[in-house]
Amino acid sequence: MENSYQRLLKNNRSWAQKHIAKDASFFKKLSVGQSPEYLWIGCSDSRVPANDVTGTKPGELFVHRNIANVVIQTDMNLLSVLYYAVDLLKVKHVIVCGHYDCGGVCAAMQNQDFGFVNNWLRSIKEVYAKHKTELLAIEDMAKRERRLVELNVMEQVNNLAKTRIVQRAWKNSTLQIHGWVYDGNNGQIKDLNYNKSGHSDMEDIFRYNL
Ligand code: CO
Repeated sequence: MENSYQRLLKNNRSWAQKHIAKDASFFKKLSVGQSPEYLWIGCSDSRVPANDVTGTKPGELFVHRNIANVVIQTDMNLLSVLYYAVDLLKVKHVIVCGHYDCGGVCAAMQNQDFGFVNNWLRSIKEVYAKHKTELLAIEDMAKRERRLVELNVMEQVNNLAKTRIVQRAWKNSTLQIHGWVYDGNNGQIKDLNYNKSGHSDMEDIFRYNL
């Protein structure tokens, strides 16, 4: 019997053939280089595939995903992706897209021990603590979790704004940061209308003299 992973390789062959059938130079054009307009920072959750939910093609979206789409100032992986996307690829938009029913966010709002993952989820507990009054006023646990998902996205937009990478981009060109949430119940993305395109509304202490 065929191993389940071999289905992926088969799918890949037909995917490649389909593109070539439509446009013989499809891969040749992509091989020249990439100039995506967007950086997507999303959750690793398998149900939120960045290109699929945004209807974007190869070459359009630069992607970073981690558990619960968090922006941690010491995360070399995220910072490298952000630096490359902003400084070298010159993306115009950075999108933080969380999603309702996020396992990482659910875990962070409990006292259960998740072993090593506790470290990763710690920053979401900080978001919870920061907005405790608002969150505890929401009695329905599912609704409370949805709100924490939104607050977590907004906090990550703030965290991006605090980086030197983003502040340099604001000084030299234009860069917009957006906060979105994907709803797995209907497949739709909700724009939280939480955008940043400059540090005018930022606590002064986080601003660098660049
Ligand atoms: Co998630």
